[in-house]
Amino acid sequence: MTTDITYLGKIIHVDSGIVEVEVSDEIPSAAPIINGRLYKIGQIGTFVKMLIGNITIYGIVSAVSNAPSNSDETNLKFNFGSRFLSVQLIGEKIGEDDFEKGVGTYPTINDEVHLVVEKDLFDIYGKHDEGSIEIGKHSSSENLSVYIDIHKLILRHCAILGSTGSGKSNTTVSILKAILNHYIGSRVVLVDPHGEYASAFPEAKVFKINDSTNPLFIPFWLMNFDELAYFLVGAKPADDQKVEYRKFRELITELKKENNILVSGTVDKNYITADSPIPFSARKLWWKMNWWLNASFTTTKKDEQTEETAVLENNGDYENLIGAKFTSHLSTPFANSPHVSQHKEFYSYEKKMLSRLKDSRFDFLFNPGDFKGIPGTKDLHNLLNEWIGSTQKLTILDLSGVPFEVLDITVGLITRFIYDSMFWGRNEAYTGKNRPLLLAYEEAHTYLNKNDDNSYSRQAVEQVFKEGRKFGLGALVISQRPSEISETILAQVGTYIALRLTNSGDQSIVKSSAPDNLNNLIDLLPTLRTGEAIIVGEAIKIPSRVRIKLNNPRPTSDDPKLVEAWSKAHPENPDNYKSVVTSIRQQKL
Ligand SMILES: Nc1ncnc2c1ncn2[C@@H]1O[C@H](COP(=O)(O)OP(=O)(O)OP(=O)(O)O)[C@@H](O)[C@H]1O
Ligand SMILES: [Mg+2]
Repeated sequence: MTTDITYLGKIIHVDSGIVEVEVSDEIPSAAPIINGRLYKIGQIGTFVKMLIGNITIYGIVSAVSNAPSNSDETNLKFNFGSRFLSVQLIGEKIGEDDFEKGVGTYPTINDEVHLVVEKDLFDIYGKHDEGSIEIGKHSSSENLSVYIDIHKLILRHCAILGSTGSGKSNTTVSILKAILNHYIGSRVVLVDPHGEYASAFPEAKVFKINDSTNPLFIPFWLMNFDELAYFLVGAKPADDQKVEYRKFRELITELKKENNILVSGTVDKNYITADSPIPFSARKLWWKMNWWLNASFTTTKKDEQTEETAVLENNGDYENLIGAKFTSHLSTPFANSPHVSQHKEFYSYEKKMLSRLKDSRFDFLFNPGDFKGIPGTKDLHNLLNEWIGSTQKLTILDLSGVPFEVLDITVGLITRFIYDSMFWGRNEAYTGKNRPLLLAYEEAHTYLNKNDDNSYSRQAVEQVFKEGRKFGLGALVISQRPSEISETILAQVGTYIALRLTNSGDQSIVKSSAPDNLNNLIDLLPTLRTGEAIIVGEAIKIPSRVRIKLNNPRPTSDDPKLVEAWSKAHPENPDNYKSVVTSIRQQKL
């Protein structure tokens, strides 16, 4: 036997990427100390190496047992007191070259297996270069920084998954901070449904509903026709056969065509459809429907009831939601008195739309400040410049004031708008391929749910995951319920950062979607400590267990200090909750 202190044992079985090692019963200790460091033999997730000539093959311990995995009745020559390790081969290093993922040469029976010491780990993880950022320290060594390849992390997309309180938000902050500190031209848009990130990034530009400096506006006219119809009047594409649905489309197209002279440039009317993101007045749309419903006419014949035959008294005021006035068809009982409108199709649409327009919670959509597109106001290029064109590299879209029923469509609009800007700007020097962008989605399971067939955000985000890479758009999803997230999205995730995950359904999703075949490493997920992650996939040289540092300042997601709060008395005060109620009303803290 070798006297080498790192010697572990010999290979007894080789099966494609997995080898089985019989640990020598002559090794002096199960926990040898090498260069002052304690190593534990047979810890799942630790590395071992095999030397074949000038090639070093590295593997990761994925299972430990006291019998070889293929033992049976006739195979009793094995000493059942000994230990057997299953080792997943992960990469190799030829001579003095750098470590490479994947193996070209396989070890064989009786090849020696050695412990990996700190120096080997430094060889594997390599040095920090321009293309990588430090994500944390290796769990087995406090001195060993783990780097991830930023190009692959962003453009092949990534996911941060873990149960509540496992440290996802903190991990997100670590990664974003490393990116922002390292790359002067980087840019990130963070979709933050609970408004928890502004505190962690004092330098970021934060857009928020009702904010006095950077109010969040998402002009409703970014919606395509299906979205407008659903959102404004509750109609679905299946209503296509209904007269009111078709007329509604015509009205919208007509209003959009009236507005083709825009600040960003004039748009040819022939290209304008009900789907084009052209500004129009939602109030005028309501007013028009109201007009047809309430008009009185000089004729009873429906097809002769037109604008010319209407008996109009005044036009009302659409900006203030006052409908036009007509001479009443009831007031004069003579034969030639005005006649009631036969155009009652919009009856239910008009009512629904009026209640939408009067609901101040939707003001960020329907009253989008100066974003009117027409000369003298702001257009969509101003919105893009504010969101993704500023020198502040991180933009936080704080959606905490967005009513839950419109969260889906809001995330959908944001995503599609940024996607379109990257697609159509793909060759511009300042965006697209020439300045990639990362879109990060916190609490992704709430709006990217796989069971929701009508999810606008899911469709838009799936498109980013499928196509974004080609024009510089990468995505990061953060979620505590991976089993609820769209499978299309998870299948496109190149790098998984999996923190403690206790639910077995969620674990199996990570297991089946993780790109490397490392199920045993994934089995560790329920036992990880807070802030500890298993990272697998394209952006990391080798699947690793990593400790992520606790950041300061932090997102406002820290646990409340329950014991402290419950340990003191709280006096009654009838004025309590007044400001809370005002905040509920104004959707503003
Ligand atoms: N790397 C870390 N080291 C030590 N403590 C950590 C680490 N990361 C997070 N914590 C602690 O764990 C708690 C929860 O962290 P965090 O808010 O990041 O979890 P989360 O997974 O985002 O939870 P949620 O699903 O509820 O949003 C925090 O109070 C934080 O102080
Ligand atoms: Mg969180």
